[in-house]
Order: sequence, then C-alpha cells, then structure tokens
Amino acid sequence: MGQDHSVIDEDTPPKTLSSRSLASVAEYILSGRVKRIVVMTGAGISTAAGIPDFRSPDTGLYANLASLDLPEPEAVFDLGFFKVNPRPFYVLAKELYPGNYHPTVSHVFVRLLAEKGLLHQLFTQNIDCLEREAGIPAEKIIEAHGSFASQRCIECKTEFDAGKMREFVSRGEVPRCEEGGCKGLVKPDIVFFGEQLPKAFFDRKDMAEEADLVLVMGTSLQVHPFAGLVDLAAERVPRVLFNLERVGSMGCQADDVLALGDCDEGVRRLADELGWREELEEKWRGLVGEEEAERQLQGAKKRVEALHDEVAKLAEEVDEVLHLGEKKEKEKEGSHVDALNPENKPDGEGKVVNEVDPVGEDAAAIKSSVKNTDITKTVEVSVETTNALKPVDMPDGGGRIVSEQKAGGQQPGDTKSSA
Ligand code: OAD
Repeated sequence: MGQDHSVIDEDTPPKTLSSRSLASVAEYILSGRVKRIVVMTGAGISTAAGIPDFRSPDTGLYANLASLDLPEPEAVFDLGFFKVNPRPFYVLAKELYPGNYHPTVSHVFVRLLAEKGLLHQLFTQNIDCLEREAGIPAEKIIEAHGSFASQRCIECKTEFDAGKMREFVSRGEVPRCEEGGCKGLVKPDIVFFGEQLPKAFFDRKDMAEEADLVLVMGTSLQVHPFAGLVDLAAERVPRVLFNLERVGSMGCQADDVLALGDCDEGVRRLADELGWREELEEKWRGLVGEEEAERQLQGAKKRVEALHDEVAKLAEEVDEVLHLGEKKEKEKEGSHVDALNPENKPDGEGKVVNEVDPVGEDAAAIKSSVKNTDITKTVEVSVETTNALKPVDMPDGGGRIVSEQKAGGQQPGDTKSSA
C-alpha cells in the first residue's frame, strides 16, 4: 500500500489552477466551476480559541500531560487505558469541555462556504463542538472522532444525562452508569484509540471523492483513517493546506497550494482574494462578540511574537554555523586539502564526515531566507522548501482509529491497558 509522497517539482505546471496560489484558488471558486468543497479540519483551527492542539512540540496537549503520569501521552484517549484508569481523561475533559470556548475565523469561514451553497461536507477531527457553535448546518458536519455532545456507559451503552455529565466534568469526577446497578464507566462519545469511527464517517467518506476543491486546515494528518481522506479526491482537484507546517501528502500534487502559517491568517487572505473579507469578519465578530474577537486577535499577535523569537534564534544559530564554517574554510585553505576529492574524505573516526557542507552558499541562502521570512503573513510556499512529516504505510485499521506514531507498534484495536 505504498504511496508516493514525493513533493511536486516547482516546474510542473498545475492542471486545474492558473497557479499554485490563493489568488488562483479564489479565481477558481469565483469562476463558478466549484460546486462541492470538502473541508477537513483538525485541532489547529481551534488553537486561536484557546484550546491546545495535540502534537505541537511545546504547547500541544501531548507535551503537557506529564502530571497525569501516563504510560504515553496518547493513552489519555486509549480505551484500554481508560477502562483501567479513567481519571486522566476526566482531568483533561474539564479543560476541554465545550462551553468555555468560541469559534475562530476559520470555523466561520466554513459556515460562509455553507451559506454560499459551496460546502459539500466538513470532516472534522475536533471534539470541541465549535463547528456547531459556528453555525455550520448539522447535516454538513461529520465529527469523525465524535464529540462531547453526548455520552454513554461503555458497558451497557445507556446514554447518560447531559446535565449530570457537565456537573461530573466540572468537578473532575468520573461518572458511572446509573442504569439498574450497571455502574459501568461513562465516556463522552469521543472516538478513542481502538474504537470504530462513527458510521456517518464511512457513510459519507465517499463525498471526499466528489470534491472539486479540498481545503485542509489545522491538522497533522497523523491519525487514520481520517488522514486518508485527503487522497480520495481526483488528482486534478486542487487541495489547499492551511497549516503551520506541511503535512501528509499535501504538496505532492500539481494543484496543491500550501498556505503555511496561522490558519486564520491564511483564511483571511483567501477571503480577501474572494472579496468576502468584510462579510467574514462581521459574521465572526457578531458571533463571538467584540471582547472575544479582541482576545483571539491578541493571542494571535502573541503567537506571531513567539514565532519571531524562534526565527531570530534560528538566524542566530545559522550565524554561528556560518562563523564556524568560515573558520574551517580558512583552516582548510591553510592545509591545502581538497575536500571534494573522495580520496581526501575524513575517515569518520569521531571527525566531521559531513558530505554536504553547511557552510557557504547553502547556509547563506538559509540565513537570508530565515531573516527575510515575514511570519506575520501566511506564506504560500514552493513545495521544495517545506518540511515533511514522513507518512508511513497505514493499516486501514478495519475502520478503527490509529495514530501514525503507533503504526509500528500498536495494531488497530490492540488497546493497551498499562495503568
Ligand atoms: P495535531 O495536534 O496532531 O495537529 C495540529 C496541526 O495544526 C499541527 O500540524 C500544527 O502545526 C497545526 N496548527 C496548530 N495551531 C495552528 C494554527 N493556529 N494555524 C495553523 N496550523 C496550526 O491535531 P489533529 O491533527 O487534529 O484524537 O489530531 C488528530 C487527532 O489526534 C485528534 O482528533 C485526537 C488526537 O489524538 C482524538 O481525540 C481521538
């Protein structure tokens, strides 16, 4: 089941779009040829609302679960682990519970697509219910990993009262089934690792094949079978990625557009190109209120500042490498060693055996690109310059949820119960 994930060459022209840019995507939408937009979302579209994503290195949930004493971060959503120790999940549930957060510009953009009759289907991995809150029609939403909207006993499957659930979650307590002495553990209808995705996902997943445009927003595309949806559309169908980094197979097809950076920022740029910006901002502010809108905008500003710091640090590191390199160059000149001659390669006994010298033109180019990166803007990038999360062959999991990080070890449905 190998997939070719090599990125598209810059010289390869797009087949459908006039160029790989948001302007061209807008032109395509406005041409009237687009009737069925499929949107796929993940935790990145809710970070502006204040909900952490899962896998971002410092700020993601999985990096911040040390205090819960888990065998591995993903155990918090592992059914086998939950059966033995449900507490960590309920600690987290208190943080993530709907009602505390408000939709972002990205959520409202999807609603706008629905209102304009362009949204074929939204597939979301998010469990925060913000799509519903944004006013996207229920029939257009597939919550592929379930949500906090309902809950039931994991033994007898009896539904548990929503009001009571809220009380348990707010106290950080674990609810138990009240049906005829069952006392089974109650769990929100969120899909845990080892569980089947909802039937609706499989009933509607073919809609991804019918798309004439695919928008992917704020997901690492690491969890299957959801991640496989991006590859269902026909090859000439344009796919746009709004994400901090390149993920999955995005960037591998001729009509892939990578809008790398903050997804709200990218969506705003597309809305600008479409002439929908004012409408988008108005709807969003009307929905969340001025105070929340300002809070989210301030948060975005802080994230940009943090990114600035990171880029400055990176530039410094490149500087350091350059400096070291210049020094080495001088030493090399002094000793008249022809490093390009294979016979003169160092033997590697604890010495530098870099075949690609990070010094010189390459490093200078990196340095200048780092310094010139305007991180306040979403960057539409040429695919060669982006990093790739390495996709691996995934078992289809028999419809069960599996994470790529576990692909080598854990098998679908093989729930770990290490407490
Ligand atoms: P991840 O945390 O794996 O990925 C979020 C992606 O969004 C990353 O690529 C981030 O770089 C990116 N990102 C974060 N903030 C962003 C922003 N403001 N703008 C643009 N991009 C941003 O989250 P998911 O892909 O949603 O499963 O994770 C998939 C599943 O893994 C989740 O549904 C969850 C988890 O285990 C369950 O809850 C069952």
